[in-house]
Amino acid sequence: MRIGIGNDHAAVEMKCAIRSFLEELGHEVVDYGVGEGEKCDYPVMGERVGQAVADGEVESAVLICGTGVGISIAANKVNGVRAAVCSDVTTAHLVKEHNNANILAFGARIVGTEKAKDMVWAYLEAEFMGGRHAGRVAMLSEIEQRQRKA
Ligand code: RB5
Repeated sequence: MRIGIGNDHAAVEMKCAIRSFLEELGHEVVDYGVGEGEKCDYPVMGERVGQAVADGEVESAVLICGTGVGISIAANKVNGVRAAVCSDVTTAHLVKEHNNANILAFGARIVGTEKAKDMVWAYLEAEFMGGRHAGRVAMLSEIEQRQRKA
């Protein structure tokens, strides 16, 4: 899978660990994030990676900042993005099964590297269940449509 990854300055080390992990799993990784010594405001990174997902440049993405919150809020401003902040493996699995989340976000200051890898694995292994969940995900798109008109 072609997966995007993005981070701000609070998550450089974690980004590198997760990028290597994704590559070890055989994924093609597009790194939109910043490196050591670079600063980046999380809204900029969230929008950049969110847009890449919405445009189909990458199939899905992982976003990491200090808490995972700011960067996911920014990504969720992009139409078509469903970014989910997670701090446990079960949630990381369920956000794909139920919400069809197209971005997994987490905080480098909140979870350790091993848990982050487990969450990424759980998220990527899970499949959207469709069925009753598809209607609810469609309702999320309807909110976007209404907000665009407002
Ligand atoms: C940056 O210091 C920090 O505010 C950011 O990484 C993130 O935690 C915001 O939600």
